[in-house]
Amino acid sequence: MSEQSATAAGQLAVSVFGLGYVGCVSAACLAARGHAVIGVDVNPQKVEFLRQGKAPVVEERIGELTADVVASGRLTVSNDAATAVRESDISIVCVGTPSAPGGGLSTRYLESASEEIGAALADKADWHVVVFRSTMVPGTCETVLIPLLEKASGKRAGVDFGVCVNPEFLREGTSVWDFENPPKTVVGESDSRSGEAVMSLYEGLDGPRFRVPIAVAEMTKYVDNSFHALKVTFGNEIGALCSTLGLDSHAVMEMFLADTKLNISPAYLRPGFAFGGSCLPKDVRALTHTARQHDLELPVLANVLVSNEAQLRRAVDIVIGLGKRKVGIFGLSFKSGTDDLRESPLVDLAERLIGKGYDVRIYDANVALSRLMGANRAYLEEHLPHIGQLLTGEIESVLEHGEVFVAGTKDKAVVEAIDTLGPDRTVIDLVRLPDAEQRRLQPGYVGIGW
Ligand SMILES: NC(=O)c1ccc[n+]([C@@H]2O[C@H](COP(=O)([O-])OP(=O)(O)OC[C@H]3O[C@@H](n4cnc5c(N)ncnc54)[C@H](O)[C@@H]3O)[C@@H](O)[C@H]2O)c1
Repeated sequence: MSEQSATAAGQLAVSVFGLGYVGCVSAACLAARGHAVIGVDVNPQKVEFLRQGKAPVVEERIGELTADVVASGRLTVSNDAATAVRESDISIVCVGTPSAPGGGLSTRYLESASEEIGAALADKADWHVVVFRSTMVPGTCETVLIPLLEKASGKRAGVDFGVCVNPEFLREGTSVWDFENPPKTVVGESDSRSGEAVMSLYEGLDGPRFRVPIAVAEMTKYVDNSFHALKVTFGNEIGALCSTLGLDSHAVMEMFLADTKLNISPAYLRPGFAFGGSCLPKDVRALTHTARQHDLELPVLANVLVSNEAQLRRAVDIVIGLGKRKVGIFGLSFKSGTDDLRESPLVDLAERLIGKGYDVRIYDANVALSRLMGANRAYLEEHLPHIGQLLTGEIESVLEHGEVFVAGTKDKAVVEAIDTLGPDRTVIDLVRLPDAEQRRLQPGYVGIGW
């Protein structure tokens, strides 16, 4: 950081590129936190507005806040990108990223801002951090923007200057409040010095903090927004069905929302294998059938089983892609620790592989035991005789047999057995085995969704 530009201990000089909703709220709120902020926009009217202490957007509290920080001199404006970069330690890019004609993301404003900032960096000796706050699909920063910054500056990212991605989680309408009360702060960083500097802008604000690789930070905003969109459509589909059935959807959802163990909770949200079992497929099927009987379209709910089937197919395709014929499957019941085989996606997986001529052996301690004891014997004999023949209670015989293994359970014995395998065998992990973060870096390991 330049000695001159830092305003006071812990406070930084920040230039904000793009004074739309995100940029002008970030600029005013950062200035209110004591940082020296310079606002830049290609739209001269917005710059002029801000120069006069007026917010270029309509938002709760933004008018008073902008007037205050402009009057105090903590928020100034500039029409010149080079001056703004030279006089700041950090440049935060908040330009728009609208949809491109094909539905993709238009990066043209990000590209032009990066070129301008890069050109200014060529003439700046002090360390500078370029922060992208705009929403952009994973890979944009590293494959499009960093090369532009490096080309224009003649310098290297992470070495001569820093680059971070710092997504914005504000909601229009309550954006000042959201800035001051973030649900979380995420910084993707090219290097730790830059990540630390960017994180320090938000010192003292609530919420968990994450410093992650750049593409992970880019992804987080899409995950959030897609989930919010999914929540709205889920709520609306439930509403449509309830009103068709003469029920008050709000009374129904009140009970749904009161369940913070299974519904409004982290349950069922970690990527893994397809769902199955005696309830979920049957009940989703019955609910969408009821809707159809009333000529009611519920596209999200109607496609839940379609999506689940796609997840099953992904597992089959991974096995096929490996080009090995001898497959060992660990786990068969729909949920570890039970012997319930009804609509188990692992049974489906085994059947598809057998159908394609794969040489399959299966180990599931609970199912093997229940077969011995007779509890599941009739079910296996009547419905799955072909599976029953391949099922063993001895883990070693599966270990000896397979070239490729499918981990469908995290049972201790299975994890221990997998850990004895050499690097010439491949493990397809459907359940996020312990230490998967390390395993995913090893050869011979494939995670289904990570
Ligand atoms: N609006 C929201 O609620 C919200 C919330 C979170 C994230 N985001 C994301 O933040 C980004 C900005 O969104 P917004 O709603 O503030 O956009 P916006 O369209 O309101 O503002 C973008 C501003 O950038 C300016 N600009 C374009 N090129 C420039 C350049 N080279 N230099 C300086 N200024 C330039 C434009 O003139 C405009 O004033 C988008 O990626 C958006 O997806 C928006």
